[in-house]
Amino acid sequence: MREDFNYIGKNIYVDTACQSLRPKTVIDALNEYYTKFNSCGERVKYPWGVKTEQKVDETRTKVLKYLKLSTKDYFVSFTLNTTYGINLLLNQIDASKFSRVITSDIEHNSPFLSTMTFAEKNDLPREVITRDDTGTFPLEIDFDRALVVVNCVSNIDGRKLSNLNDLVKRVHKEHGIIIVDAAQAMAHNVDVLRKVQADAICFSAHKMYAPSLGVMVVRKDLLSKINTTFIGGGMVDDVNKNDFTPSYDNPDKFYTKFESGLQAWGEIIALGRAIDWLEKVPKKAKTKFNSYCKQLFDFMKKQPKIHLINSTPSPVISFYVEGIDSHLFGAALADEGIMVRTGYFCVHYYLDHVKKYPPLIRISLGLHNNQADIDKIIKVLKKAL
Ligand SMILES: Cc1ncc(COP(=O)(O)O)c(C=O)c1O
Repeated sequence: MREDFNYIGKNIYVDTACQSLRPKTVIDALNEYYTKFNSCGERVKYPWGVKTEQKVDETRTKVLKYLKLSTKDYFVSFTLNTTYGINLLLNQIDASKFSRVITSDIEHNSPFLSTMTFAEKNDLPREVITRDDTGTFPLEIDFDRALVVVNCVSNIDGRKLSNLNDLVKRVHKEHGIIIVDAAQAMAHNVDVLRKVQADAICFSAHKMYAPSLGVMVVRKDLLSKINTTFIGGGMVDDVNKNDFTPSYDNPDKFYTKFESGLQAWGEIIALGRAIDWLEKVPKKAKTKFNSYCKQLFDFMKKQPKIHLINSTPSPVISFYVEGIDSHLFGAALADEGIMVRTGYFCVHYYLDHVKKYPPLIRISLGLHNNQADIDKIIKVLKKAL
């Protein structure tokens, strides 16, 4: 897929878990919007605005198609990022419906902190469940009227919540609600999520080859449990001195529930282009990508000085090198043109306090990487070791 990223030259970018590089077609889509029909969606009647509205609607449809979810049961709202989506839900959901909050130990700060403040504010017990190396979620715990917020792919080592479907069914059986943090699933692991009937799925377009944008996929029947407090333009049909007619009471406009104010129209449209691009990634490219992940994993596993966090190959590989500060190591790799992430990747609780690891190094591959990148990373790691 390298030709779609021909602007990167000899740079080796391996921080895709933070944000992926954008293929040229996505940058083109953004440019087309800004140079050919820059306008507001949903409020204007002139042709540019009509085109914007139509393309934004297309992106909503493409998101649901990509996830194999039906427009009958779900709608799609846009926001800033995964963190914002989860917070919008937790800050407005009716807490009286729940008896407990459940999350897991390997969560990004985004669900970890928002569940913490939600539980505190609403005086609810919060349980932090241990997920083992396989990433599965234990199903034998008490889910009675639980609000569950968990990732389905980890940003430490790509471990997957492979029993997500069973978890969703179990939570629903006990009259609970489940919000899935899909930030790391959308680009390379969407299979774990497809057709899964969670109550809400939040993710970041910037981690799936699209511009910076947050996406919320929400079950229509969750709306009755949301007390709207985050509100403004774009969400109302009429306003009196002391009351208003919300647009989100109209089933065709449910998505306005979470879209206060002007939206990132160009970015939304370019997300549609990114999904088209992802759908067309050839099988051969996927096989190559998996082989790059395996090559790095196999190499690192054999190095006595490398402490690998992954138990299996994944596009996201975290490790530390015995006796060397990870930030220094990262700076040394940067000197060789290799851009990695160092630290705790916003998973402080698990990495620092449960596992007591020193700061780590994370290599996260993207579809722009090629064999030459992998060879160079291995060569430089060997030299550094
Ligand atoms: C698993 C996971 N959840 C949530 C987030 C937060 O995403 P954002 O910063 O786009 O809100 C990230 C970001 O790396 C992530 O990897």
